[in-house]
Amino acid sequence: MRYAEITGWGKCMPPATLTNDDLSTFLDTNDEWITSRTGMKERRISHVSAVEMSTIAASRALACAGLDAADVELIIYGGVSNEELCPNSASGVQLALGATEAASIDLNTACTSFCYGLATATSMIRTGIVRNAVVIGVELISRYMDWSNRNVAVLFGDGAAAVVLQASDQETGMLEAVLGCDAEARDSLRVRGFGCGYSGLGITYGDTLWDFDGQVIFKRAVHGMSEACKRVMEARKLSADDIGLVVPHQANLRIIESVAKYAGVPMEKVMLTVQKYGNMSAATVPVALVEALEEGRVRPGSWLLMPAFGGGLTYCALLVKWGKRVTPLGTSPMELPPLTGTALELVNAVRASQDPHGRSKAGLMAPAFALPPKA
Ligand SMILES: CC(C)(COP(=O)(O)OP(=O)(O)OC[C@H]1O[C@@H](n2cnc3c(N)ncnc32)[C@H](O)[C@@H]1OP(=O)(O)O)[C@@H](O)C(=O)NCCC(=O)NCCS
Repeated sequence: MRYAEITGWGKCMPPATLTNDDLSTFLDTNDEWITSRTGMKERRISHVSAVEMSTIAASRALACAGLDAADVELIIYGGVSNEELCPNSASGVQLALGATEAASIDLNTACTSFCYGLATATSMIRTGIVRNAVVIGVELISRYMDWSNRNVAVLFGDGAAAVVLQASDQETGMLEAVLGCDAEARDSLRVRGFGCGYSGLGITYGDTLWDFDGQVIFKRAVHGMSEACKRVMEARKLSADDIGLVVPHQANLRIIESVAKYAGVPMEKVMLTVQKYGNMSAATVPVALVEALEEGRVRPGSWLLMPAFGGGLTYCALLVKWGKRVTPLGTSPMELPPLTGTALELVNAVRASQDPHGRSKAGLMAPAFALPPKA
């Protein structure tokens, strides 16, 4: 039997830190509200592109696995943050890495994109289509955030991480997955008009208007993730005691606590990054995984439970059996270019390109699109 072991891991976190107090310089919000409702204290703002963050994370994961970029057979770029509709972002990472033999796929299921990517790559390795894969979770939300909307602007941050999967005859890697989508609530989280949106009045290129119903998402996220956790654990006949570490999506501390409680897993066995990175959408699970490894919280041969949810509303839970190795084989020389300025200055530069409703000024100036709206 063929399995897909996780043999490499690496992250790329931009250094610029935006605090809750920074947010209250331009929004009617405060540290007390954000901390008590979400658990978040700060988040990172990137000074480079999503492809650059992804490339560094992937190169660190490859060095960790001891795999040459030229031998990579598949790259999955998981996330919402794309600069262009075509070509895809995975091909940008492929080019920058020199992974000339790879197939390159963008996969967007919002915050669950990394987990869906891990499931997809595992399946492709287990069926023999490829022998290895790089799976990336990345977001650059600061560039398309509606910075005038306090309901969403305080919640998100930028970041990237990647893992390398390699074919193995050992029973390791992702062994169970439940993937689903609560599409009835798809309108509760929407970024309208990004890239190619059609408003009925004209093309809204660059529009960053967010629709967001936090309470609907909250309830459905807890339900979807809890049921998915229950189903993957039942499929392997595992109890809460068998779980070595929960590595959840980090959208809200209270959501994580509810899901852990339902699964019967104490919070000591839950990896948390939400307080320092906020919600990095597709990047939260892989960044938390990499930091769990760095902190020695992943034991050889242990079970990891990874629940996530996101726009769609997609949800999932993965069960990963870790292999023997928990230390990197090597390190990558790739580093981010130096940062000049602060996180607040980076955010203010994006704000300067938006009108008072968070819409891109460039988008408002885009030419009207000739096609009539859909019936
Ligand atoms: C977003 C979320 C933190 C809001 O928490 P909540 O306890 O539901 O808060 P509410 O929506 O009830 O808002 C309560 C009040 O705070 C206000 N408020 C909203 N954002 C605020 C902010 N940043 N600062 C201060 N006040 C804020 C609201 O206007 C509301 O005021 P009102 O009572 O006068 O109308 C929570 O619903 C959540 O985490 N949802 C899911 C997370 C998510 O969707 N993540 C993205 C998908 S991965």
